[in-house]
Amino acid sequence: MRNNMNILVIGSGGREHALCWTLSKSPLVSTLYCAPGNGGIAEVASCVSIKVEDFPAIIDFCRSKTIDFVVVGPEAPLVLGLVDALDAAGIKSFGPRAAAAALEGSKGFMKDLCREYGIPTAAYQRFDNASEAKAYVAAQILPIVIKADGLAAGKGVIIAQTLEHANETIDEIFGGLFGGAGAEIVIEEFMSGEEASFFVLTDGDAILPLATAQDHKAVGDGDTGANTGGMGAYSPAPVMTEQMITATLETIIKPTVAAMKDRGAPFTGVLYAGLMITETGPRLIEYNVRFGDPECQVLCARLESDLLPALMATADGTLRDISLRWKPEIALLVVMAANGYPDAYEKNTVINGLGEAAAIDDVIVFHAGTKREGGKILATGGRVLGITAIGKSVKQAQEKAYSGVKAIKWPQGFCRSDIGWRAIEREIQGKKLQKEA
Ligand code: AMP
Ligand code: GLY
Repeated sequence: MRNNMNILVIGSGGREHALCWTLSKSPLVSTLYCAPGNGGIAEVASCVSIKVEDFPAIIDFCRSKTIDFVVVGPEAPLVLGLVDALDAAGIKSFGPRAAAAALEGSKGFMKDLCREYGIPTAAYQRFDNASEAKAYVAAQILPIVIKADGLAAGKGVIIAQTLEHANETIDEIFGGLFGGAGAEIVIEEFMSGEEASFFVLTDGDAILPLATAQDHKAVGDGDTGANTGGMGAYSPAPVMTEQMITATLETIIKPTVAAMKDRGAPFTGVLYAGLMITETGPRLIEYNVRFGDPECQVLCARLESDLLPALMATADGTLRDISLRWKPEIALLVVMAANGYPDAYEKNTVINGLGEAAAIDDVIVFHAGTKREGGKILATGGRVLGITAIGKSVKQAQEKAYSGVKAIKWPQGFCRSDIGWRAIEREIQGKKLQKEA
């Protein structure tokens, strides 16, 4: 592999900051660019103001800077066919083509594939009109889950506890709540259990499992309140035991990768399975066709190997030659979001204390919605920072991450105060059992 490559990362979130931070350490990289990037990414990569959906501008930029490899972070450009467009222009990239990105781009597509190949997931039906959807819901057990078929920035899933709420939701979605993404809906059985995020790289044939993680989707402590893009994460996720990982690979991941190849749409890139760990084993909640955010940040914090050869081997079809080493320690991340998120929030507020937080041992500050202006860092998004720490236990990683949070001076921001609680309960339980034995 050449050792003076020009790399372009597409995206502007915490996930892309973590990818840039990781790739910037690769001895194979000559210049690292990010489009459009954010205030933190600017410290490790050269940010270029190109929108992720502007494919002609991305291709022009790749040609003018002789980019050797493009790493696509978010789902939207993947579903719109950025990898197809780059391929057509002769530019190598990491990520699935549009036909395979449909695993995230259309929930109906994903569910039909699961049904056809016997992949464990919630029972479901697809609908394109309100009256049939309501008639179906009336005959189901509550709560019931209603999803817009297309991409809805993580907001397209509603769990209805009552028939009234379900019917209202159906009307709202068909009334245009999520625009075109809601032209079709999927109604599915509610699954209970503990959630986990499982990631693999695949080149369409070979599968390389990455580390496991757990996200915290709800905005409030104790997993209460509205769903968000993710308020914190840690890796590894103890709920993903060896046995659970094997079951996930055998019953979910391998059949999916084989099915996509079968259908002439081989999946290449990172396949992210959102899992519900139930009494009968892992069941698929959804597929994402990219790294999770904030899960990517904790994965990158634990990765010891160079990431670039693994991403390139995924694109080249040579993944079977790759293995990755992970730190045995736990990485834990606390998201700091703008007050009001996931609803309306103030923009362009000033964040101080970033240097103090980053100076704490084993603490890394990843930026999401920030920009640099006149020597200051301003908050520009809903999720703004990911304060990440490495520790020997979840408890220790949690303490370090919150000491980082404390150093941040940003009155217009908030965070959850219990990230990692499930794993910490397990640690306490484990110690108790050890004492008793
Ligand atoms: P998704 O955007 O599909 O990941 O869904 C967002 C969140 O909704 C998931 O992380 C789960 O917490 C919840 N969810 C989605 N589908 C189901 C389901 N069938 N049963 C229970 N919870 C679900
Ligand atoms: N952390 C959830 C997601 O990336 O979709």
